[in-house]
Amino acid sequence: DKGNHRHFMEKEIYEQPEIISHALGHYVDFASHTVKPTDKAIDFSKLSGLAISACGTAYLAGLVGKYWFERYARLPVEIDVASEFRYRELPLSPTQAALFISQSGETADTLASLRYSKDQGLKIGAIVNVRESTIARESDAIFPILAGPEIGVASTKAFTCQLAVLASLSIAAGRARGTVSEAEEKAMVKHLAEMPRIMSKVLNDIQPQIETLSRDLSRFKDVLYLGRGTSYPLAMEGALKLKEISYIHAEGYAAGELKHGPIALIDEHMPVIVIAPYDRFFEKTVSNMQEVAARGGKIIFITDEKGAAASKLETMATITLPNVDEIIAPMIFSLPIQLLAYHTAVFMGTDVDQPRNLAKSVTVE
Ligand code: F6R
Repeated sequence: DKGNHRHFMEKEIYEQPEIISHALGHYVDFASHTVKPTDKAIDFSKLSGLAISACGTAYLAGLVGKYWFERYARLPVEIDVASEFRYRELPLSPTQAALFISQSGETADTLASLRYSKDQGLKIGAIVNVRESTIARESDAIFPILAGPEIGVASTKAFTCQLAVLASLSIAAGRARGTVSEAEEKAMVKHLAEMPRIMSKVLNDIQPQIETLSRDLSRFKDVLYLGRGTSYPLAMEGALKLKEISYIHAEGYAAGELKHGPIALIDEHMPVIVIAPYDRFFEKTVSNMQEVAARGGKIIFITDEKGAAASKLETMATITLPNVDEIIAPMIFSLPIQLLAYHTAVFMGTDVDQPRNLAKSVTVE
């Protein structure tokens, strides 16, 4: 049932605040602002590192998770798309644990990567939506994302719920390893607890602007997304979402890679979507943005209030989100990229919920 929404994708975008609040409740205590104990099968305090593998959007969630586990839990993370991970002959050690992220829990390459890691003696954790799935069944610890059924082929709420679970787990791992203090835990969980309310407000506030902007975006053939830090995986997720449902060619790049190649493509025919909250990477990303502007590139700037005030560059559009803590920024900044892809596809008249050539669950390699 789509309720009063035109597509399941739209419904799933708008139900994120409520669903993510429910999902978070499984991992954090909203009253004491602490993380709840995680599944004992994986003891984060003793690990030498993590291996993470997944496909598509789930892989990009894992890539954000890598930044968090490394920063907060000081755990080195080896991550790859499952179709490479399974064949790389990657040396793994039983002192590491492996996490597999999958909405469906049935993705063939992810399952094969899981079995490979299990054979190497690693404890296996599954971050899944479908708890009765094969990936969940073959894992030692299940970390449910509790997103409810996701019908739209393009993943939206599963992505932000995967992020919420990864954020919570990285705080829990940091506590277990003594790299996150009690005060830091409290502060971060507080931000997570405030996130659903902020998401609702953002969804409401940005909708009209994004709809107008999508009409302009639908006229282009190619789009480049740039980001740094956790905004880099988001840039790739933005590009993936746009190409999947609007069939506009899009690429996501690390902002710092711009000058190593893609800058050759910049002209007035290729808008550049820059994802840059006012964080420790902001100045660097803005200087990449200047390089785009100097070459006549059209910029769509997705930033926050501080970022909008700090940048003097002329843009095709600036989408201004509230200033939020960096632990929740990836979830908040997911919203404009989802809505932008959605409305662009609606303008193009594509089959948003069932894009051509794609399947919701990929059980063949
Ligand atoms: C993108 C998308 C796909 C899936 C990928 C993995 O919107 O939906 O990229 O994320 O096929 O699927 P799961 O998570 O079921 O393993």
